[in-house]
Amino acid sequence: MITSSPDNRRLDGMVDLHGHLLPGIDDGARDLEQALNMARLAVADGIVISVLTPHHLNGVYDNPAMHVREQCASFRRALREQDIPLDVRPGAECHLVPELPAALAKGTALTIADRKRSVLVELPVYTVPLGAYSILEDILAMGLQPIIAHPERNGELVDGSEKLAEWIEMGCLAQVTAQSCTGRFGPQVQRAARRMLRNGLIHVMASDAHRDKRRVPELRAARETVAQWTSHEVATLLTEDFPRALADGQPVAVDRLKHALPSRQRGWANWLRRLRA
Ligand SMILES: [Fe+2]
Repeated sequence: MITSSPDNRRLDGMVDLHGHLLPGIDDGARDLEQALNMARLAVADGIVISVLTPHHLNGVYDNPAMHVREQCASFRRALREQDIPLDVRPGAECHLVPELPAALAKGTALTIADRKRSVLVELPVYTVPLGAYSILEDILAMGLQPIIAHPERNGELVDGSEKLAEWIEMGCLAQVTAQSCTGRFGPQVQRAARRMLRNGLIHVMASDAHRDKRRVPELRAARETVAQWTSHEVATLLTEDFPRALADGQPVAVDRLKHALPSRQRGWANWLRRLRA
């Protein structure tokens, strides 16, 4: 799909790196009908690729790699039968637990788009676990790049980004949720999302969609919010270039983000330096 963006640049289509479209395997889509509705909404919004990321290792849901691959293949067939032009790829939202590095090494936890390049990691809702730093270090040492899912919604990071900044400095990436930017999770989360974005600590915006109503697979409205907070160039990097690179197993050129931020917002590197001083 080729459309025009508000700043008149071509859009080759957005890539949604985080969504719970696969039916009946976690707290996302309840059944195939709802999953297909979600896919239709994604396409109508301008999304061309969705990475399907059911919860894994979160104490409630376990979705090992083989199971997700099979479910993704079956959903892809259903999309084809319904003529819904959405490219779906397997993935997982892996809870940040001590067992995660071993699960990745064994191949039972899925990487983003099964490319063995990056892994979407989820923090607990309220806290940052004590061993978070060393688990992330272990994953990086395996040659995988952790993508921190929605840090703006974590109870500890919502009030301060120091730990997130440390992880980014280590080599991690971070993903903001679209509806955090548009205010669905309240003003505190929205402020945190804005702060993290303007500090250059966010590399991907994704829907984290769970349903065909309310928590839907849409990025376009939030993309406009991000463009107002930062620049159209940042919004394009976060919804197209960077997530597409990750879905294709390519490296993310993070330096492009620093240059795309308005000059007054480029202080993040200095800010990190001050943190370490
Ligand atoms: Fe999620």
